[in-house]
Amino acid sequence: MATGKPAGIEGIDVRTPNAARMYDFYLGGSHNFAADREAAERAVGITPTMIPGARANRAFLQRAVRFCLDQGVRQFLDLGSGIPTVGHVHQIAHERDSSARVAYVDNEPVAVAHTDQLLDGVENATISRADLRKPEEVLAEPGVAGLLDFDEPMAVLAAAVLHFVGDEEGPAEMVDAYRRAVAPGSFLVVSHITDHYDEPERVEGISRLYRDTSHTARHRSVEEFAALLGDLELVEPGLVHAVDWHPDSEEVPEGARNAFWAAVGRC
Ligand SMILES: C[S@@+](CC[C@H](N)C(=O)[O-])C[C@H]1O[C@@H](n2cnc3c(N)ncnc32)[C@H](O)[C@@H]1O
Repeated sequence: MATGKPAGIEGIDVRTPNAARMYDFYLGGSHNFAADREAAERAVGITPTMIPGARANRAFLQRAVRFCLDQGVRQFLDLGSGIPTVGHVHQIAHERDSSARVAYVDNEPVAVAHTDQLLDGVENATISRADLRKPEEVLAEPGVAGLLDFDEPMAVLAAAVLHFVGDEEGPAEMVDAYRRAVAPGSFLVVSHITDHYDEPERVEGISRLYRDTSHTARHRSVEEFAALLGDLELVEPGLVHAVDWHPDSEEVPEGARNAFWAAVGRC
């Protein structure tokens, strides 16, 4: 389906480690460059739970999408959608219903270009290059406004991305703007890297490392993460480790119950 904007791959800086491409590395993907791999390997050296954590986050997102489909939701706005991996949101949604609509949004050129390629010939899915910190602009993107019906319920996905929004940028107001834009019956699916590690020096080490990447990451406490959600009514079991949200297996991979926390709320 046509993209919201020409994707292009111009503007790529391959020398600065990039958070989207480092995350792709943690997930075992191949859309990353030497600088990304080097920084990701250093992050894993600081905290070996980075890889199981990223995978637990991705698995949470996929379970949450299936949950929303079970609730009858057929539209998804995926903010900070990342570099496509197996089980991207439209693939999960279209397994259930090929008419389900998915609007991806990311501000990273490699993520946008690869999503654009993946969507070639796919109906009911778009990618827009836009900045989720500007909700009005995101909501006006042709790939978003032209695809999604804001009079019908939808799921707004903000997985592993709010930690790239600084306190000074008003993350709670931003979340609220998306909540106000959607119809009753909608859901917010959200996950966040927290400081819930055993050793505080790891948190500081990861924060320091990400300061030299494209996206500075802020570890918030679980309470600070909860505060971003305001009065959102959380689906059971509430705000938990990503791996503990509606698990589909009793086995928790080693190291997966770590910094990534997650919740799904009714808007
Ligand atoms: C860690 S990845 C998460 C990908 C996916 N949501 C997931 O949970 O599997 C974070 C993504 O958010 C994107 N991102 C970060 N800040 C953003 C912003 N201000 N606007 C749009 N995308 C952003 C990054 O480019 C990256 O692709």
